[in-house]
Amino acid sequence: MHRILFVCLGNICRSPLAEGILRRQAKEAGIALVVDSAGTGDWHIGQLPDRRAVRVGIAHGCQMSMTARQVGSRDFEEFDLILGMDLRNVQDLCAWPGAKPEKVRLTRSFDADATTQEVPDPYYGDTRDFEAVADMLETACRGVLASLSHP
Ligand code: 4NP
Repeated sequence: MHRILFVCLGNICRSPLAEGILRRQAKEAGIALVVDSAGTGDWHIGQLPDRRAVRVGIAHGCQMSMTARQVGSRDFEEFDLILGMDLRNVQDLCAWPGAKPEKVRLTRSFDADATTQEVPDPYYGDTRDFEAVADMLETACRGVLASLSHP
């Protein structure tokens, strides 16, 4: 079974949305998948996602009851794909103790039509920024699922 970890900075906005969306899509497609998320930062450990991410995630049919955690060295053993939201995430992941850079990619690299590489941080934005992030993630996650069926 494939094991996929999404990573952002705080693990309260983008990566929990990605986790919820990919999990929902995999369930709809009847594909068994392990999906999790984590942050490079430690500020929000143990917290529920940001309330704006929860609202937008629920509107996208996702369960949003995950709690934030920080990336750990074991993640590089336990997951076969580790998807960062932006270039800073990818850079931080590749420099992590125990990193396996060959497992690390940008989430939007699975969206062939993406006009920018990164999923922008919506933390200081408004609801529309969260909705834009969720739409980007819907497309990128479809690309992730497609890549698993047609590697
Ligand atoms: P995320 O958003 O990385 O998408 O979860 C952020 C959440 C919190 C902070 C930054 C980004 N922060 O600085 O606390």
